[in-house]
Parts: sequence; structure tokens; C-alpha cells
Amino acid sequence: MPSNVKSQCTDKLTHAARRENVSVRRFCDNFATTTPFQVRQHAAKIHSALAKAFLFFHSEFEKGNVMKLLNCQDGRRDIADQVIRFGAVAREQIRVDVQTLIGRSSYQVDADAATMADIGAAAIGKQLLQHERMKLAEFGMGLGEPFIVIEGLPEQADLPPTPQMFHDDAVVQSTDCQLLGAMRLAGLHPVAYTSENYGRLMRNVAPAATALNAVSSHGSKEPLEFHTDNGYEFEGSGCVCSPSPQYLWFAGLRNQDANGNPVPTEVLRVSDIVDQASTTLLTTIQQPIFRIMPGQSNSRAPIDHVPLLERNPVTGEWRLRFNCNGSQTVGLTRDAKHATKELIEQIDSMEELAVSIVVAPGRLLGFDNYRVLHRRSSFEPGEDLSQARWLRRCFACRDLRNGQRIDPRHRPYVWK
Ligand SMILES: [Fe+2]
Repeated sequence: MPSNVKSQCTDKLTHAARRENVSVRRFCDNFATTTPFQVRQHAAKIHSALAKAFLFFHSEFEKGNVMKLLNCQDGRRDIADQVIRFGAVAREQIRVDVQTLIGRSSYQVDADAATMADIGAAAIGKQLLQHERMKLAEFGMGLGEPFIVIEGLPEQADLPPTPQMFHDDAVVQSTDCQLLGAMRLAGLHPVAYTSENYGRLMRNVAPAATALNAVSSHGSKEPLEFHTDNGYEFEGSGCVCSPSPQYLWFAGLRNQDANGNPVPTEVLRVSDIVDQASTTLLTTIQQPIFRIMPGQSNSRAPIDHVPLLERNPVTGEWRLRFNCNGSQTVGLTRDAKHATKELIEQIDSMEELAVSIVVAPGRLLGFDNYRVLHRRSSFEPGEDLSQARWLRRCFACRDLRNGQRIDPRHRPYVWK
């Protein structure tokens, strides 16, 4: 193997191994002598970035084999590295800290989000190990795996019936506090849009009686295909309008269908989509020949003549805006129309690479809206919507200065 290639690989391995807090020497030594068979043995255990570094420089691997090797024995890639789990003692301490600090004051999330983030970050941060703090920070910088799960948190006490649209925020104050605190620990800011959710920070993701057939987070009977939320401009791209939210965070309050089965959220990595795409498809979707339509819950105008895929100029990571619902992403040329169809077909064939996560009570899920597509299958909410699936959702961004604010002084987090 040429020395410059080996040197590049060693750099990648060193970086990945440091990130995973494992012995750099061990992995570099492995690299020097590794064989495809050994890679196969390691692939289920080691972080995907590390596996990719190995495999990238092994020309004997076909792309399809690489994808197979990155899967676990059960057919899905191991996500254990992306789960921060609290035990009973930490959970009780977080509960006490949050309850003590939020006290009995009145609460409305749009006015009190910053205070809640301070309290939540203090309570959760005290229980984190150093490498867990690093994991959250890395996620918030748009590096590493594009999703994170925090579980074993205190469940919401005295949970009221699932609301229709909005309700009194105070009934889920401690859950909001945890959600906003985790976002703060990841270095992220909550953000809302005037064109979505009435400009309010928290959305109750729950079936609404008037929207059960809608293709939105207030529906249930129609599946939400893999998509980017509010897939407009990317943050930091110098756009003239407010960018898409880079992050989505969810907190679980109830999560079951009418038969008591959990309803998962699935994420599909953009890096996996890129790995499997043909060169022609990749070239086409990087051209400014597409129109992005607003989602059903969003009243913004479409944006025209944009590419679907580009690299983040800071991190070098791929970022994608796309919606497998054919009416949401429109090709403006013949090539673009063909590419849109091909991309939908490719994503449909990638079922086994999707990561399925149930946002159960006591669990938070954060994902990078630029580096994954996400979806939710249809489900039957049952007759009694007061016991239906209910998540709290909040958008987050890296930098509040990147959006057009309607009231910079009092509500800098609400963007046009
Ligand atoms: Fe969504």
C-alpha cells in the first residue's frame, strides 16, 4: 500500500479512535495487518466511522459489502454508542434537582425556555460522565453519528390527557426542562418559525381529531415518508431567509398505538445514502435544479433552483434536504425529475439501514436534520385520543444569529 494512503488512513483512524476513547495504537496496529476477514470480525463492534476508515482504503471491498459489514448481527447497526443511559440513582437525583429548581413558579415555555435550559443542563450535566459530555458536544457540532438518545430520565409525573394542539405548558414543565437542558449541553439553541407551529417553540406531536389523515405530526393514519423537516436553506450557507432547523429533539410522554404497540421514529443516515448512490445521481443532486415545497404544517413559500445535496463547508459532512413524498421535492429539469425518482427508489431499498428508535417516556431523541432523513409509519391512534401517542418536539440551531428574527430583543429564537 502506498505510504501516503497509509498515512491518510492512520490519520483517520487516530481521529476516530480518539473520538471513541479507545487505544489508538491498538487500532493502528490492527490496520497494518488487518485483512477483510478481520474487518468483518470487528465491524459489528467498532464505531461506523472507524469501520469506514478501514474499509475506504481496502479496494477489495465492493460498496455493497461495506454496507453489509457495517450492520450488526441482527441486521441493524449497533447504536449503543449513541445512547446515554441513566440508572436509578442518577434518575432520582435529576428528578430532585429539576423539581427543586423549577419550584412552583408559573411556566410558559416560550418565555421561560432559557431558564429551563439552565436548570435542565445543570441537573443532567451533573450526572454525565466526561465521555458522555463529549458525545453530546460532538453531536451538537455536527460531527460523529447524526443522532443521540438519552434514556433513563425521570418520566413526567401526573401526566395529563394527550392534548389537541396546545395546552398548558406547566403540566409538562419537568419534561421540557430535560429536553431544553440536553439541547443546552449539546451547545444548541431552541428555535421556532413564524411559518410553523404558530411561532411557538414546543410542538405537541400528537394525533389531532381534525387532522388524523394529514401528512404531518398531527396526523397518524398516513405515513410520514423519509424527509427533512422544513428543508430550506442550510444553516451557515449565507442565505437571505432563515435556514432550516439543523436539529430536531423529541421527548417521549406517551408512545403507543391503539393496540399498545410502540410507534418508532426512524432515521436514515445521509452518509449511507451517499455511499449507495451512483456517481450520476450524486452529481445531479448537487446541481441547483430543484424546488423545495413547504411541508403541510408549514406556510412558507417554496425555494427554487437549489441543490439537494452539498457538503458542510466547515465539517466536510454531507447534508441533504429531501422528502420522499414526491410532491415535496420537485425536479426542475428532466435530469432533476429523473434523479428525484431514482433517489426515492434508492431510499426505499435501504430499509435495513434505517435506525428505529422509540421515543418512550423518560427518553430523549436528538437528530441532525441535515445529516439524516426521518420518518414515522402510519398508526392507529384508537378511539380515545386522550391516551394517544404524545411527544414534545423542539427545533434547535447552532447559532441564533443565522436567522431573520422578528423580535431580536425579546424573542430572538423566533425566526421568519
Ligand atoms: Fe418531520
